[in-house]
Amino acid sequence: MSGRYQIVVLPGDGIGPEITEAGLLVLEAAARDGGFEIETELLPAGAVAIEAYGDPLPTHVLEAALGADAVLLGAVGLAHPPPLGEPRPEEAILRLRVALGAFVDLRRGRCLPGLEHVSALRPELASRVDMIVVREVAGGIFYGEPRGLERTEGRRVAVDTCRYDEQEIRRVVEVACQIATTRDGRVCSVDKANVMYTGRLWREVATEVAAEHGDVEVEHLLVDAAAARMVADPASFDVVVTENLFGDILSDTLAGVVGSSAMVPSASVGGRTGLFEPIHGSAPDIAGRGSANPVGMMLALVGLLAIGLGEHAAAAAVEGALLAAVAGGARTADIAQRGERALTSREFTECVIQELAARPRPVVA
Ligand code: IPM
Ligand code: MG
Repeated sequence: MSGRYQIVVLPGDGIGPEITEAGLLVLEAAARDGGFEIETELLPAGAVAIEAYGDPLPTHVLEAALGADAVLLGAVGLAHPPPLGEPRPEEAILRLRVALGAFVDLRRGRCLPGLEHVSALRPELASRVDMIVVREVAGGIFYGEPRGLERTEGRRVAVDTCRYDEQEIRRVVEVACQIATTRDGRVCSVDKANVMYTGRLWREVATEVAAEHGDVEVEHLLVDAAAARMVADPASFDVVVTENLFGDILSDTLAGVVGSSAMVPSASVGGRTGLFEPIHGSAPDIAGRGSANPVGMMLALVGLLAIGLGEHAAAAAVEGALLAAVAGGARTADIAQRGERALTSREFTECVIQELAARPRPVVA
């Protein structure tokens, strides 16, 4: 498939813009090689948008995103969260996911070959970690009503509500089962069925969906046990499917297991337009130095190309180029070992682009 694609790009805050710049250079190179065109529109979201428009996701940005073929986001967030009740940069992501109809977020974590040392695990264990957290992202406690701040008898009270309807559960578990058939065929569904009603419903529905997938092996774990096993025996997981909050926590746990949240991508999909981003935050402490690690952004691009645009050859090329660059010793400061030269984000990106250029072109019949 080849064509012309509209990508809405939201660099965001902190290291977001520098990471996004790295991603766009790779995306342009991939498009050139792949014989398709990318048209990008850079727009504000997060704290920069609050500053300019008083809104983390201004209407014109949302409208552009809705009309795009894919949305690429750097990172949003401030060093110090604004006071309760004021607009928060993170709302941009939450509102975007819902507006785009994205209900599932795919987060694959693995130690890239050559980067086993980044993980605290023994290298032989680290190299076996490769799992996808399939996170529900349209419901649960992030959105349930009632929610908010109130005063009861003069005291401040905060309320969040966890709510799930069976359809919301069914569609995510279905995605997890389908993904499992392209991998190791194992799904671990994570809930809190021993305490929460939403957990009981989650387990019931997941069991029903599992029964429709005879080729997939489905197990159920309570979230506390899942967290423990993810740290103690991460290689035992293939596909993990869970609700919004647990998925948020477990995907960062996975990032910790592989050694860095800078190396895990996120694809929020299910609607017409997908949202692709690295899972890391805006890292205000290192912003502006040009030293941020763009691996998560490049893996997010792999998702954008494959799932967002259906450009599978280009996605494979970017992934291959990234792996080759890393195998060839490309390292930003956070993943360099003693004695290895730390590259800037820009130099790292150049290595990936060189590898991309060195790859054989696909032969079109
Ligand atoms: C993530 C982030 C977001 C989330 C925040 C920033 C809203 O933590 O993508 O994991 O919780 O979904
Ligand atoms: Mg998170």
